[in-house]
Amino acid sequence: MPANITAVAHFVPPDVFPNSYFESRLDTSDEWIRTRTGIKERRFLLEGATSDLIVPAAKECLEQRGLTPEDIDCVIVCTVTPDNMFPSTAATVQRKLGLTKAWGFDLSAACSGFLYGLMTGAALVESKQVRRVLVCGADKMSSILNPDDRSTFILFGDGAGVVLIEHSEDNNIGIKDSILKMDGKGGDFLYMKSGGSANPPSHETVDNKEHYAVQDGQTVFKSAVVGMADVSAEIMEKNNLTADDITWLVPHQANLRIIDATARRMGLSPDKVMINIDRYGNTTAGTIPICLSELWQQGKLKYGDGVILASFGAGYTWGSIYLRWGMK
Ligand code: COA
Repeated sequence: MPANITAVAHFVPPDVFPNSYFESRLDTSDEWIRTRTGIKERRFLLEGATSDLIVPAAKECLEQRGLTPEDIDCVIVCTVTPDNMFPSTAATVQRKLGLTKAWGFDLSAACSGFLYGLMTGAALVESKQVRRVLVCGADKMSSILNPDDRSTFILFGDGAGVVLIEHSEDNNIGIKDSILKMDGKGGDFLYMKSGGSANPPSHETVDNKEHYAVQDGQTVFKSAVVGMADVSAEIMEKNNLTADDITWLVPHQANLRIIDATARRMGLSPDKVMINIDRYGNTTAGTIPICLSELWQQGKLKYGDGVILASFGAGYTWGSIYLRWGMK
């Protein structure tokens, strides 16, 4: 019996920051941001933490399935911006939602966090360790962005997407296959230098702004274009899929040019590619479940549709998941 997504929802904060907001603060322009990234605006959470992004979306998942908090067995929070170093944000979400029967944990795989979490959740369900898992992809990126760094501040946004995974009786749908990868050598190009056990926070680390995300954009870009396109082509080949078998590519939303290169490599026309980077920027672990939730809300996902999820992010981590949509 395959593991299947049986509910999906998202939450983005209400405060919208268009590109013009950055023009007055940094040496940048709306034109540069739009043409180099595809982003027009993003949302920042002004008060609250990553768990506050997750809770409304998770509640909506429960409502969609008519479940109570006690029906959830496990909660996985994929994030690089946990509420605290510890306890886990999963534990905080468990408390805030009253998931009294659930255990859970945080999972750190940056922009690929949701794919890693989805596979982990699916494996737990398929092995019958648990019946119902909430997999949450969420980041409050604004909490680790340097407002003086034009190469990162303009790229990211805050948001969360949550899916519920359960068994399906129908073998034709559900999560079919995954290819997940990691290359720790990429850690030199996208990271946060201090705040962890390697460089615990001190006056000096804060003065040096080492508690902010740093990225060598061009190096990451080159690896992302190749990595995301290759792994997506690989999962198609492995499952004997042609472009006709795929209704939607749901890619991580880091840069429109990376997304276009991936779709081209897969032979997919642009109308099969989910894009919302223009409205939300890069919400890290949030991008893919937010995309899925919006597609579902807009009635663009039908039972049995072939979907490929693809991501690339810090670590490096990257991967692709093939699924047949299983919500009616
Ligand atoms: N506004 C205006 N100019 C900017 C700028 C900004 N916000 N950010 C950088 N620039 C400048 C650079 O300083 C550089 O100027 P120079 O030529 O005088 O040195 C020029 O624009 C080009 O910079 P570059 O970094 O080569 O731009 P790019 O085309 O690679 O685009 C990114 C930058 C970050 C948008 C792009 O590299 C990218 O998307 N990288 C990958 C992101 C990603 O996938 N991350 C992984 C998942 S989180």
